[in-house]
Amino acid sequence: MNKLENEFPEGFLWGGATAANQIEGAFDADGKGLSNNDVVERIKPKDRKKLHLPFPSSQEIQEALDNQDQRHFPKRYGIDFYNRYKEDIALFKELGFKAFRLSIAWTRIFPNGDETEPNEVGLAYYDNLLDELLKNDIQPIVTLSHYEMPLHLSMEYGGWTNRKVIDLFVRFAETVLERYKDKVKYWITFNEINSILMSPFISGGILRDKVKEEEVLQAIFQAAHHQFVASAKAVQVCHRLIPDGQIGCMVLGMINYPNSPHPEDLLAALQDQHKTFFFTDVHVRGHYPSYMKRFFKEHGITIEKQPEDDEILQSNLVDFVSLSYYMSTVSARPETVGEQAAGNILTNLKNPYLEASDWGWQIDPIGFRTLLNMFYERYEKPLFIVENGLGAHDKVEEDGSIHDEYRIDYLRQHIKQMREAIDDGVELLGYTAWGPIDLVSFSSSEMSKRYGFIYVDQDDEGNGTLERSRKDSFYWYKEVISSNGEKLD
Ligand code: BG6
Repeated sequence: MNKLENEFPEGFLWGGATAANQIEGAFDADGKGLSNNDVVERIKPKDRKKLHLPFPSSQEIQEALDNQDQRHFPKRYGIDFYNRYKEDIALFKELGFKAFRLSIAWTRIFPNGDETEPNEVGLAYYDNLLDELLKNDIQPIVTLSHYEMPLHLSMEYGGWTNRKVIDLFVRFAETVLERYKDKVKYWITFNEINSILMSPFISGGILRDKVKEEEVLQAIFQAAHHQFVASAKAVQVCHRLIPDGQIGCMVLGMINYPNSPHPEDLLAALQDQHKTFFFTDVHVRGHYPSYMKRFFKEHGITIEKQPEDDEILQSNLVDFVSLSYYMSTVSARPETVGEQAAGNILTNLKNPYLEASDWGWQIDPIGFRTLLNMFYERYEKPLFIVENGLGAHDKVEEDGSIHDEYRIDYLRQHIKQMREAIDDGVELLGYTAWGPIDLVSFSSSEMSKRYGFIYVDQDDEGNGTLERSRKDSFYWYKEVISSNGEKLD
């Protein structure tokens, strides 16, 4: 066999990815409104291995609002990136970042979501942040909505189940696209848009008491439809305002293996795989895939559409597909009993061939390569890996060093498989590792689940100096970037 090139393309966008609600903190500063993540409580250590995606009632929200003990709500204070972004960007520069993925907090721009005029202080904050990145030759990649919406829209409008939210989102999107059109070329509409299936509150703004139990699935798919239309409208605005810009959709990338060669297990895996592909199919092909007809029929789901919706979806296709990838999962026919795997969302059975992270996420670098191939074969559109990484406990040695070879190992294996995928013919725009600096976990709001190359001195309760320091992986990733992915070992 001839030797393969095994290299990353020139201009490959190496970097890191974050979300406003997990790093910024300053949740009520400078006119910011409350977002739905500001009322999400940290999980208890005994529940660490379980998945707790909140689906609160209005009353529980009220209780959270009354609770002023900020230690329970780490997303309110984050890692104080809001005030320390210059220091952090200097470290990203030292790492050699070509790109940095961030999200804009909707509530800094439109505090309640339904104002007609934006908050200038919020806009100015992102001007400064983006300028700082550009000054350091770091390309910003901006997510419009990363697990965050104004709490007011959840409480008063029913979140994304309400069609009015489309226009409110588009107003926000247009405001920031117009404002930052000369600073940002890469945009992403909704983070992990498929997560709404498991996370109706965080991803869809839906409150438990506002929907009858038997109608939750209906509400989720209606909300998803509104997000599709909103996403397509944001694509339209981006293409109008930024001719050389690129805008993509983003999904939680999951590969589903059949539990056995039993034909029904393969069918189950296919059906689970559709839970991811449905969302990219709509964005890339511009219409609902045929396989959803049966699903909707069987589950009694009717999507209310306006006459113009099909045309909006069809005429505003994304330029690239972006995805996160952390783990794979196993699907089985309904009667199968087996040990469940942990995960953030969309996970099923345990895979006996794989090791798992401290949080039970099944580590599968080869699955990464396979999934990239599946996406690329399906769409032949460029892919952007905008999240990948290992959440782990780190130990700080007496001299302050942190030897996180487990993280290096995880990333090395995944980057190697990404390189294989490039040789398979997959077109990749870049790779932004999740949480280059330790941040608050999305699913558990813990600090001790660390992803960073940069350590942040803060514990789960918010104690610590917030001082930043370099882990071993910092020096390793720096080499990876400066060698354009050649020096991995
Ligand atoms: C992705 C999210 O699902 O996974 C991120 O887009 C999140 O926001 C990341 O942080 C890792 O999940 P967790 O729960 O370990 O923070």
